[in-house]
Amino acid sequence: MTDNSHDRLRVRVLNGPNLNRLGLREPAIYGAKSLAAIDAELLALGVTLGVDVTTFQTNAEAAYIEALHAAADERLDGLLLNPGAWTHTSIAIRDALLAAALPAIEVHLSNVHAREPFRHHSTLADVVKGRVMGFGPESYGLALRGLVGILRPVAT
Ligand code: DQA
Repeated sequence: MTDNSHDRLRVRVLNGPNLNRLGLREPAIYGAKSLAAIDAELLALGVTLGVDVTTFQTNAEAAYIEALHAAADERLDGLLLNPGAWTHTSIAIRDALLAAALPAIEVHLSNVHAREPFRHHSTLADVVKGRVMGFGPESYGLALRGLVGILRPVAT
């Protein structure tokens, strides 16, 4: 059997605060699906796309920052980032992403621009490759497809 494991992209999904409450938390905004179910679907999509997907969630900002450092040390190929409310406040997460220098897609279940004004600002918006929001749990799958399209462009 040929070992082509080095050809597989390695992508990590980093979820921030309160996202472990998906399915229970404001379902009218975030949907009825749990984070475990979303993660399982993303892993399955990764198999289809030939991508090793790993997932992580924390309610502690320091742990989120350290997960970005770890992603850099592991030389992962890319990231899907849903920093939850930290999206709107955290310069430290922005700095950690800049330090990691990995291609990232910002992901939100809800369309933050259709919500309260304080959600309209993102500290990451100008340092990510793209942003996907407003598709509920499907935002993650769309973001993974978009990231893979960037990392593995189709020859024309
Ligand atoms: C969120 C949007 C944020 O404004 C909010 O604080 C969240 C979830 C989303 O996925 O829609 O926790 O990132």
